[in-house]
Amino acid sequence: MKKIAIMTAGGDCPGLNAAIKAVVMSAHNKDVQVLGVLDGYKGFVEGWYKELTPKDVENIELLGGTILGSSNKECPFYYLVDKTNMKYVDKTDEAIANIKKQGVEGLIVVGGDGTLNSAKVISERGLPTVGIPKTIDNDMAASNPTIGFDTAVGNVVDAINKVRSTADSHRRVIVVEIMGRTSGYLTLYGGFAGCADIILLPEQDYDLDGVCEKVKEVASRRRSVIVAVAEAAKELGKAETVAKMINDSFEKKRYGGIAEKLADQIEAKTGIECRYVALGHVQRGGTPNHNDIITASMLGSYAYELLTMGEYGYIVGVDGEELKKMEFPKDEINARLLDLNTHPLVKTAKAVGVYFGE
Ligand code: F6P
Repeated sequence: MKKIAIMTAGGDCPGLNAAIKAVVMSAHNKDVQVLGVLDGYKGFVEGWYKELTPKDVENIELLGGTILGSSNKECPFYYLVDKTNMKYVDKTDEAIANIKKQGVEGLIVVGGDGTLNSAKVISERGLPTVGIPKTIDNDMAASNPTIGFDTAVGNVVDAINKVRSTADSHRRVIVVEIMGRTSGYLTLYGGFAGCADIILLPEQDYDLDGVCEKVKEVASRRRSVIVAVAEAAKELGKAETVAKMINDSFEKKRYGGIAEKLADQIEAKTGIECRYVALGHVQRGGTPNHNDIITASMLGSYAYELLTMGEYGYIVGVDGEELKKMEFPKDEINARLLDLNTHPLVKTAKAVGVYFGE
């Protein structure tokens, strides 16, 4: 291959720039040109490109976000062309033809499960493609961890530690809402390392009375109680709390609001003063930590190597220090969920007294 393209798509996360740099520099060393696709699938369909040189990627691994921009709404085979009438069209073949006209022979897509479903379609329609998994949600079977997860866990832990000092001063319960969509990895890891007393995950509906009993028990021996709740967690028998539906987004649901609701319920039932904080996009913003820089760089150069050796149709990943590849699955790529019965950190957390709302 003489020219390849790279795109970041889906929600951004720390580490994306390290993957971009690794691809650009691996290619440069072999005299292969790299075209950056701007703003994810929107730019892919609209033809928004930028040539990437070594100068463009100098020290970018130290920056959060993505220098290429991203979008977590568009999908090339279900592309909104008329917002008034909500008319969607399959633009995949047109977009592939356009990028091929630029001399591009292969594509690397850095994305989450939704995004890599589109990458799979692009690969099947004739543009050789390799996927790199990224998401703070850590919900992809292809890689554990995914790019961005480790930094996000650190961001959650920092936030909980700050929240605890004020909760301690005021003898309060603070409910901390953590992202992750339907997968509880970020809440489990961030909540545990942040010493939360109660961790509520989307994979297991919680018993409100049980949560309140645990709050009272902890409050009887400590000044503060921290409840880490996943944005998609829900009370037994109740519906999940959705902040808004984004109709022109491929994945329409955005979660949010559970911490506020739960804080009110805990205060009403226990009589203990309660506050909440939804950590929101702070979790996925800012500088990547060393682990994400290393993981993203390794995956970037591995994806380049596979693509240019003709081994496309794969998602690359890490498993500890091992690099691995997985074919794009035949069916849709779905979110990887926690198995609470077998996950070793759940077992450890229970052993040290964390309550999961069971
Ligand atoms: O998938 C990453 C993620 O940050 C989720 O944890 C969260 O639910 C969602 O994206 C938020 O999406 P948006 O950036 O559209 O608000």
